[in-house]
Amino acid sequence: MGYLPRVCQFLCLVLSFLKFQATLFSSLSSSSTTTPMCSRQDGVALIQFKNAFSINKPVSEKCKSLGTKSYPKTNLWKEGTDCCLWDGVTCDHITGQVIGLDLRCSWLYGTLDSNSSLFLLPHLQKLNLAHNHFKKSIISSKFGLFTRLSYLNLSMSNFSGQVPPEISRLSKLVSLDLSLNDSPALNENTFSGLLRNLTEVRELFLVGVDMSSIRPISLMNMSSSLTSLSLSGSDLRGDFPMSFFRLPNLRLLDLKGNKNLIVHLPESNWSSPLQYLNLLGTSSAGKLPNSIGNLGSLKHLQLGLCNFSGPIPSSLGNLSQLTYLELSRNHFSGQIPPSLTNLKQLRSLYIFDNQLDGSIPVQASAFPNLIDLDLSNNLLNGALPAWLYTIPSLRFITIHNNQLTGHINEFQYKSLTWISLGNNKLQGQIPKSIFELVNLTDLDLSSNNLSGIVELDALLKLQNLEWLDLSYNSLSSINSNISATHTLPNLRILYLPSFNIGEFPILSGSTNLEALDLSNNRIYGQIPKWMWDIGRDSLLYLNLSYNFLTDLEQIPWKNIQTLDLNFNLIHGNLPTFPTNLIFLSISNNSLTGEVSSHICNLSSLKVVDLSHNELSGKIPQCIGNFSKSLLVLNLERNNFHGKIPTTFAKRCGLKNINLNGNQFEGPLPQSLTNCRDIEVLDFGDNKIDGTFPNWLETLPVLQVLILRSNNLHGFIGNPNTSHPFPKLRILDLSNNEFGSTLPAKFIKTFEALKYLNGSPGSIQYMQEAKRYECFVSLTVKAEEIEIKISTIFTSIDLSLNKFDGEIPEVIGELISLRGLNLSHNNLGGHIPPSMGSLINLEWLDLSSNKLTGEIPQELENLTFLSILNLSHNQLEGPIPLGKQFNTFENESYEGNLGLCGFPMSKPCSNEETQPPSSMTFQGDSKLTNTFGWKVVLIGYGCGMTLGLAMGYVVFKTGKPRWFVMLVEGRLHQRATRSQKRARTRNARRV
Ligand SMILES: *[C@@H]1O[C@H](CO)[C@@H](O)[C@H](O)[C@H]1NC(C)=O
Ligand SMILES: *[C@@H]1O[C@H](CO)[C@@H](O)[C@H](O)[C@H]1NC(C)=O
Repeated sequence: MGYLPRVCQFLCLVLSFLKFQATLFSSLSSSSTTTPMCSRQDGVALIQFKNAFSINKPVSEKCKSLGTKSYPKTNLWKEGTDCCLWDGVTCDHITGQVIGLDLRCSWLYGTLDSNSSLFLLPHLQKLNLAHNHFKKSIISSKFGLFTRLSYLNLSMSNFSGQVPPEISRLSKLVSLDLSLNDSPALNENTFSGLLRNLTEVRELFLVGVDMSSIRPISLMNMSSSLTSLSLSGSDLRGDFPMSFFRLPNLRLLDLKGNKNLIVHLPESNWSSPLQYLNLLGTSSAGKLPNSIGNLGSLKHLQLGLCNFSGPIPSSLGNLSQLTYLELSRNHFSGQIPPSLTNLKQLRSLYIFDNQLDGSIPVQASAFPNLIDLDLSNNLLNGALPAWLYTIPSLRFITIHNNQLTGHINEFQYKSLTWISLGNNKLQGQIPKSIFELVNLTDLDLSSNNLSGIVELDALLKLQNLEWLDLSYNSLSSINSNISATHTLPNLRILYLPSFNIGEFPILSGSTNLEALDLSNNRIYGQIPKWMWDIGRDSLLYLNLSYNFLTDLEQIPWKNIQTLDLNFNLIHGNLPTFPTNLIFLSISNNSLTGEVSSHICNLSSLKVVDLSHNELSGKIPQCIGNFSKSLLVLNLERNNFHGKIPTTFAKRCGLKNINLNGNQFEGPLPQSLTNCRDIEVLDFGDNKIDGTFPNWLETLPVLQVLILRSNNLHGFIGNPNTSHPFPKLRILDLSNNEFGSTLPAKFIKTFEALKYLNGSPGSIQYMQEAKRYECFVSLTVKAEEIEIKISTIFTSIDLSLNKFDGEIPEVIGELISLRGLNLSHNNLGGHIPPSMGSLINLEWLDLSSNKLTGEIPQELENLTFLSILNLSHNQLEGPIPLGKQFNTFENESYEGNLGLCGFPMSKPCSNEETQPPSSMTFQGDSKLTNTFGWKVVLIGYGCGMTLGLAMGYVVFKTGKPRWFVMLVEGRLHQRATRSQKRARTRNARRV
């Protein structure tokens, strides 16, 4: 949902000021009733002026929305008639000279330069040319000839260039408006001349005039009779003079959008007749002073996006004239002051995007005239206040992203058009009265705890509905044919995931549908044929994931950008896709056949996820270079074979490539190094051969490298560069034929594993694209869990290879490591005591090697260790006692005949000499997992997530005992509010 109505409201307010100006003007200009013939010269000049322009309706298009009539006034000007009677022309009663020209909104289109006959009308006192199009004409210095002018309006008419210095000759000017042209510039000299000479000026509107070269302090030379000043969007920089706020006659001050303007409000003795104050988007910062409550005449106060922090002053409740109050997008904290409920005139109240907590003030008779309320994106709790249901004028309620609890009660009035309460903790049923709000256009109740059954037929009455989002509640529909929705002609957005819907709701009347989410329902079979005509041109987003769709004959929606069909039963070949597709995800279906090179025509694609299907054949060579925008290519778990394409192009933008679980063969293509942005590279479970691709070490942001279960072999060797794999956090080379010693030189240089980065509060999850997230799945003791890959997740798995020699001491430097698996190799020697430095380690598997000696006491420091497997080595001596070591069971140590002490049955006795172990474990049992859980299997993946409802951790079976320690305690972090908010916003943007 955008903020359109609000923008309009605000505009309308500004415009009402301008309109007020205009009425002033017209009351003066229409005072001539008995007019003599107009001066012949002036008549000729006017006709020439008329002829210099063509008539072009669109140039005055905006007038209508401002409530000003727009029509070609000059069309009725006829030579030989009395020009004083012409529309827009005012003459002097006595002399017949033209003294006023009002041609605003007259469809004039053409250049207006120094040769214009306009300048042959030297007696002009009022001139209004606003809302025409002068094709970027320079504002002529000849405007300086109109020395009698008291009113000049050249706004919205496409002038450009410098404002000429001659403008300051107009010393009688009372009102000057140069707003909203093609950013003409006002330089320091012209401005100071203007301030010096225009001593009578009361209204100055310079919206969008480039004033970047003007020092704000010079504004202090402004005449004290000034009543209105608008400098919005004029790029003023530096400190705005505080004393300006005390000007005795100032009623309107608009400094909106000067982001480099530093504004400090007076903190004491501030009184002023200000009625309109707008500082939106300026740099104000600090606290909003209490003194703001002294401005008893204020009607409109706009302080959004000003960097204010601290509490909202309760003195605001004194501003009894206020109709418009905006404090949004700041850092206000604390409560909403209950005094605000005194603002009986208030029509618009915006405090969204702050850090307010506490409950919404409950005063029963609050805000009797409120139309628009937005308190979204705060931390407000408690129940919805009673007044919300009883204000007859209320049309917009926006309080999403808060912590509100309790029920939604029945609304007493039917004027509401907009209700947005998503992402709170509201419960109970959807009140019946909502379905009586005949003018409702937008209804968002998503992500609450609402329950009960929604009869979608009740929607029938909401004929104006455009946006309906009831997702992520415990709502469900009556399991009947949903036919009502077919009469909602304006419907654009429909989100009903997890709604227990058994078939497609009939949407045949909603021909302009833009987004449809029916994911996680029980829809079986085909997409009905009539759906092909819905949104044929308009549908951008379709999410039918987690259903039971079986066929996908065609994708008829020409402009579709996001297509999510994950987790269905779709079989058959891939259909042809429309070329605008950005996001394509059909993972976890039963697709067969080959991927044709047609896919390479889809040059807008950012995400392709075809994983977990039965696709086969070779993949087209062009897959490596068809789209610069491609971020994610996921072909995991299909039956593809052949060589990996070698054509990854220069400036390839891939961040995530996953070919895991196919039968790709041959070596890895070196052209992958063209993809400088790769973060995740997963080629595990294929038939890739060759040696370790150490050329990957130059990829600057590679974080996850998975090559497990291939035919890679040989000595890993040494790095060729001084900072190899600078960002690598997850390395899995398990189940290959790598041999010789462990790659100590690489281990020594893994920068990302050597420093603790990211405090738990700042955890972020890897996310290559919107809604596309990476996760890691662990299989421990036959329990499988999936965890989203957070940016602090780290692990190294070199198990099931032929490494020999000793575990290098340097391993102790990888202090941010959380998982280490070196099991099933031929490693000998002692466990290095330096491993006691790996204080973040949560699982450690050194089983099935030939390690000797004692378990170093230093391992006691590993207080986060939840899983330890040292079984089947030749370790001896006492098992360390205390801390984590009290939690490990027998199976962590079995097959080490020399170990003694808890939990082994064999006690350690000082007298008793440990018999040296004679039994050597024959560690050649690759993947013959005879020891139950002992191999910690780690899998990685990335894919579409099912929005907020899907947990961050997914168990295939029940919660393992160590879960609390490993996941809830450390890795498992809820998304932060801002991430959630950003997500909601993204989802809304579609
Ligand atoms: C100020 O106005 C006077 C009289 O209109 C004029 O002569 C003079 O040039 C103006 N000064 C500037 C700086 O334009
Ligand atoms: C619905 O909107 C129309 C048009 O704006 C208005 O005339 C009518 O009064 C509104 N209905 C209700 C119940 O507010």
